[in-house]
Amino acid sequence: QGSERLTTFEDNDQKPVGHGRMLRKEDPRLVRGRGRFTDDIQLPGMLHLAILRSPFAHARIVGIDTSAAAALPRVRAVVTGADLAAQGLAWMPTLSGDVQAVLATDKVRFQGQEVAFVVAEDRYTARDALELIDVEYDVLEPVIDARRALAPDAPVIRDDLDGKTNNHCFDWETGDKDATEAVFAAADVVVRQDIVYPRVHPAPMETCGAVADFDAVEGRLKLWSTTQAPHAHRTLYAIVAGLPEHKIQVISPDLGGGFGNKVPIYPGYVCAIVASIVTGKPVKWMEDRSENLISTGFARDYIMRGEIAATRDGRILGIRTDVLADHGAFNGTAAPVKYPAGFFGVFTGSYDIEAAYCSMTAVYTNKAPGGVAYACSFRITEAVYLVERIVDCLAAELGMDPAELRLKNFIRPEQFPYTTKTGWVYDSGDYEPTMRLAMDLAGYAELRKEQEAKRANGELMGIGIAFFTEAVGAGPRKDMDILGLGMADGCELRVHPTGKAVVRLSVQSQGQGHETTFAQIVAEEIGIPPADIDVVHGDTDNTPFGLGTYGSRSTPVSGAAAALVARKVRDKARLIASAMLEVSVADLDWEKGRFQVKGDPGKSVTIQDIAMRAHGAGDLPDGVEGGLEAQICYNPSNLTYPHGAYICVVDIDPGTCEVKVRRFIAVDDCGTRINPMIIEGQVHGGLTDGVGMALMEMIAFDEDGNCLGASLMDYLIPTALEVPDWETGFTVTPSPHHPIGAKGVGESATVGSPPAIVNAVVDALAPYGVRHADMPLTPSRVWDAMRGAPRPP
Ligand code: CDP
Repeated sequence: QGSERLTTFEDNDQKPVGHGRMLRKEDPRLVRGRGRFTDDIQLPGMLHLAILRSPFAHARIVGIDTSAAAALPRVRAVVTGADLAAQGLAWMPTLSGDVQAVLATDKVRFQGQEVAFVVAEDRYTARDALELIDVEYDVLEPVIDARRALAPDAPVIRDDLDGKTNNHCFDWETGDKDATEAVFAAADVVVRQDIVYPRVHPAPMETCGAVADFDAVEGRLKLWSTTQAPHAHRTLYAIVAGLPEHKIQVISPDLGGGFGNKVPIYPGYVCAIVASIVTGKPVKWMEDRSENLISTGFARDYIMRGEIAATRDGRILGIRTDVLADHGAFNGTAAPVKYPAGFFGVFTGSYDIEAAYCSMTAVYTNKAPGGVAYACSFRITEAVYLVERIVDCLAAELGMDPAELRLKNFIRPEQFPYTTKTGWVYDSGDYEPTMRLAMDLAGYAELRKEQEAKRANGELMGIGIAFFTEAVGAGPRKDMDILGLGMADGCELRVHPTGKAVVRLSVQSQGQGHETTFAQIVAEEIGIPPADIDVVHGDTDNTPFGLGTYGSRSTPVSGAAAALVARKVRDKARLIASAMLEVSVADLDWEKGRFQVKGDPGKSVTIQDIAMRAHGAGDLPDGVEGGLEAQICYNPSNLTYPHGAYICVVDIDPGTCEVKVRRFIAVDDCGTRINPMIIEGQVHGGLTDGVGMALMEMIAFDEDGNCLGASLMDYLIPTALEVPDWETGFTVTPSPHHPIGAKGVGESATVGSPPAIVNAVVDALAPYGVRHADMPLTPSRVWDAMRGAPRPP
C-alpha cells in the first residue's frame, strides 16, 4: 500500500513521481467553476445552430420544405442534405473507413439522424425554426435486431454503398481455428454460454459541441470543439473540406469527460463549420442530453457465444468465441485500421492456454453509429467480460472455487513477455500477488463462510471475481494507425531562461489530471519542481502532432514522450554544465536538479543555472545551440499491459430482486504509479461506470427503432447511492519498454468491474441454478433469472 499522506505540490519537488497524494494543478480552476468549456466560448456576432433529427429509424426522404423556417425572423440560414450535396459535403468519412451522412440526402437510417440545420441569432430561435421544417418521409421497415440483419429478406440499410445488397459490415477472425477445434475435441469438459454485452452510452457530463469561426479574408478556420483528438480531427477536416491544414486551428478546451464519446467526428461539427463559412459569422452548436444519447457514439452491442475447454481438474485448455457485432447504421468505430474489432483479440485473458479462436461478423442496423471505445482500449471491455464470465461458468461446472480456478491458470511471471494464442505480446505481469492481495483485502475465506451461513438462511449473498489484463497505449505505428495516421505522439519541452518550463503535449485531458501528471513526469527527469512546469495541450497551433487521448494511451505513449523529451533536454544541459564547470561530461553526476563534479559534489550547477546560461551571454560549447528545449515524436515499441484483480460482494433482496453492491475490492497494477491520488480517482470513476453497466444501463430500442434511453430518466447512470465505499489496493509490475515503467490505468476499472459484479450476482443466484444472466441486472432480470426465464436482451 502506498503512502496515504496528503501533500502539496511543493512537498514533492524532490520526489515528483509516485509520492504521496499530490493535489491536482487543474483543480483550483475546475472546482471554482473557472474551467473554460466549449459552451463557455462567446464570440462577437456569434450565431447558433440547431439540428433537425429524424423521428424514424428507417425512412426515405420524399421532400423537405424549409420555407417557413427560413422566413422566421432572426433565422440566418436553413441547410438541408441537398444543399450540402451540391457542395460535395453531404457525406464524410468515419474514423473506420466507412462513410456517414452529414445531413441525410436519400434516406434516414437511425432515429436521431441529422436531416437539416438552422442557424439563427439565438439558440431558442434556431430550435423553434426546426419545428417549421416540413419533411415528408416514406417510412421503411427498420432492422433493429442484429440477428435479423443478415436475414435474406431484411431491408438493405446501406443502399448508398455501391452494389450493397445486404447488411453485412465486416468479418474478422483471430487465433487458430483448427488447433482450437482439436483442443476442444480432446478436452474433458467444454462449457458454452451465450453472453450479450448490451449497447451502452459513455454519457459524458458535457455533451458534444463546437464553435466554428471561419475568416473568409484569411481563409482560416478556428474551431473549438469537444474532441479527444484535436490533431487527428484537424487533418480530417482538411481532407474532407479541402481547407489547407495549416489554416485550420482546432482547440479542445476543458472537456467535461469524454470516455470515447468525443473521439469520432460528428455531423454537428461539420455543420458548424459549413454554417460559419455560409454566414461569415462564428457559429456555435451544442447538442442537448437527448441528442447526445440518441445520436453520438454508443459502445459495446456484442452478442457473443463463449466456449471454454478444460481438464476435469481445472486446467484451461482453450477458449473460442463467435461474435455478432452491431455497428449501427454507419461504421463509426474508432479503432486502428488493422483492428476492425478493436483489441478484442485479448479475449484469452490472463490465462496460459493452448489454443484460442474468434470469429466475428459485424452488421449494419438502424441504430446510431458508434462502437466507440467507452473507457476501454478498443473492445477490451467486451473481451474481458467474455473471458471472465466464461471462466466463472467453468468454475460452476467443475464445482471449483472461481479464485482457485484463476490462480491455477494464470500466466506465470517467468513467462513474460508472453505471446498469447492470438498474437498479443503481454509486456510484463505478476498476477498471483495481485490476486492474493485482493483476496486478503476482501477476507475471501471469511466471505465464503459468511455466504454459506447466509445461504442456509435463504439469504442471497454473492461473491464475484474478475481478473483482467488490458492492452493499452496504442500503438506501435508499424501496426497501428487511424485512417493512415500513425499512432505516435509528439511532445515538446522548453525551459525558459529563469528555469521555469512549459511542456506541450499532443494528448488531450478530459479530466484525468494531465496538467499535474505530465508536470510530475518532466519534473522527475529534469529536477524542475512540478509547480514550475506548465502543461499545454488541446490546441493544434500550440502543440506537436499526435493522435489524442483514448484507450488509456496518454501515459503509455505521451507519458513516455514527456520522459524522453525531458531526457533530451537533460542531455543538452549536461553539455552546457560541463562547460560551466570546466570538466568533461564523463566527470559529471546527475543529482536530481543539478549536475555535480564526480567526487566533488560542492562543485555543481543547477538546472536553473544551466537554463540561464543556455539563453545568456557567453560562449556555449562547440556545436551546442542556444536555448534549452527539445521536441520528439515517440513511437511505442509495444502496448503496455496493466492488470488487476477485482472482488465484488452483493446482497440481493429475494423479495424485490434488487441488487446491492455491499463491497468492492479493486487491486490494480499499472506499473510505475505517477500520481496515486489521480489513479485512485480514475479507479473510483471506472468502478462506478461498472456498476452502471452491470446493473442499470442499456440503450434499448422498441421494434420501430425508437430509442428508449433518450434521457437520463430512462438511461440510468449510477449515483453515490448505488455504489459502496471502494476498497483499493495496488501492486507494481513496471513495463519493461516504457521509459519510466508506467502502464495506463484510466480505463482499467471500467473494464474489470462489470464481470466482477455480474459474477457476484450469478453467484448469489446459484441456489436457483442460475449460471448466467445478461446485463443490466435490473430487478426484473434478476427475477426472470431466478424463475429460469431469461428475457431476450
Ligand atoms: O489516456 P488517459 O489519460 O485517459 O489514461 P491514462 O494514461 O491511463 O492516465 C489517466 C491518468 O492517470 C493520467 O493523469 C495519468 O497520468 C495517471 N496515471 C498515473 O498517475 N500513473 C500511471 N501509471 C498511469 C496513469
